[in-house]
Amino acid sequence: MAEERMLITGGQRLEGVVRVSGGKNTAVAVISASILSQTPCVIENLPNIEDVNVSVETLEHLGAKVQWCPEQGMMEVDASSIHRTDVPLDLCRRMRASSYYIGALLARFGQAQVPLPGGCDIGRRPIDQHIKGMRALGAHVETARGMVSAQADRLVGGDVFMDMVTVGGTINVMLAASRAEGTTTIYNAAKEPHIVDLANFLNSMGCRVKGAGTDVIRIRGVSSLSSRRPYAVIPDQIETGTLMIAAAATHGDVTICGCIPTHMEALTAKLLEMGARVDERDDAIRVRSIGAHRAVTFKTQVYPGFPTDLQQPMSALLCTATGTSTVVENIFESRFRHLAEMERMGARVRIYEQTAVIEGVPLLHAAAVEATDLRAGAALVIAGLMAQGTTEIYNTHFIDRGYEHLEDKLNSLGAKIWRIRD
Ligand code: EPZ
Repeated sequence: MAEERMLITGGQRLEGVVRVSGGKNTAVAVISASILSQTPCVIENLPNIEDVNVSVETLEHLGAKVQWCPEQGMMEVDASSIHRTDVPLDLCRRMRASSYYIGALLARFGQAQVPLPGGCDIGRRPIDQHIKGMRALGAHVETARGMVSAQADRLVGGDVFMDMVTVGGTINVMLAASRAEGTTTIYNAAKEPHIVDLANFLNSMGCRVKGAGTDVIRIRGVSSLSSRRPYAVIPDQIETGTLMIAAAATHGDVTICGCIPTHMEALTAKLLEMGARVDERDDAIRVRSIGAHRAVTFKTQVYPGFPTDLQQPMSALLCTATGTSTVVENIFESRFRHLAEMERMGARVRIYEQTAVIEGVPLLHAAAVEATDLRAGAALVIAGLMAQGTTEIYNTHFIDRGYEHLEDKLNSLGAKIWRIRD
């Protein structure tokens, strides 16, 4: 396959209005949950990204009939023709959320064979809590030679105590519990917006999920779920944040519409602390910035703390702030690789295990850099927007996994970004 590079001529001020797409992490969860429905299911506001394409391939492999209209963000899934319960390795390697098919297939068909998932290389990503949760519902789960095999003649609701807050683990147990007999209670559950969205989707199909958005979620399983009306997924919190950071990074004036401002509080607070101006309306956020930004300190945390997925774009922005910033990455072990790439652009960074100390420089200069994962790619786009000269970003396929038409959106605001294929 020809290698694609993204080229960015930096120094352009971003200005105007841009609309955010549907959420990646909610889309992959809701699509996997569509196989629980006895009736065809219509999902709207889906982003046109590679992870959604992989989800479509997964459903088709299982035997579902899928109509995917990327331009309308609309998908219809008819799961009545599913005739297998395994997900192939090449699909699992391409998407972390493949693990959701363990919970969904187990709930619907009483069995699942799914290889251990891949996804972004940002540190260790075990699924022991997912498995523990399914075992608590009575499933027999084995892992051998990189394959997870789950089987249950019947699932019975139970108590699941998560050892740590895990987004994927919470989602997978919610899926498995949706058709279990009785009530499942997840303690120490994740509270991220896409957990609430998945709960709303399951409830729209007749399930009874309560407490999503708090750390105790109760799921009363039902014997069958049926989609009754189209379901639109929530806007992408991380894309919204990336665009907010891009606006600040270029000292621009950008209004991001179609977003949910309350999902953005942790980032908004830090941008204000840096000296940017942020105004919120019901479904829009305007970010303006004039003059130098102040250095800040932040730690990544589970929601509603500062999201790890925005740590990379935000730490890229801090490379040009006045003073020394400290960033602590508490969720994943290996999420500073973009900063090593940015050292080629003149960034001054020291990394001590999970802490990055960033000494702001007045200007970055263009260089050839490599995206090592999705949000590292977004961080390098931010860096390219700020840098003098034309930055070249390799491995753009990472960016396409999770951002819909990122360069088109930024170009509509005045950026100069294009791609070339070698
Ligand atoms: C989800 O990953 C997101 N992916 C990630 O988005 C996001 O970074 C992450 O949540 C944290 O918010 C999707 O939603 C598809 P976790 P997930 O389970 O579910 C440990 C992006 O850029 N853990 O909440 O894999 C784990 O090692 C991405 O969009 C266990 O030890 O994250 C990590 O340290 C990348 N055992 C922590 O918990 C388990 O069984 C949080 O992981 C599960 C997790």
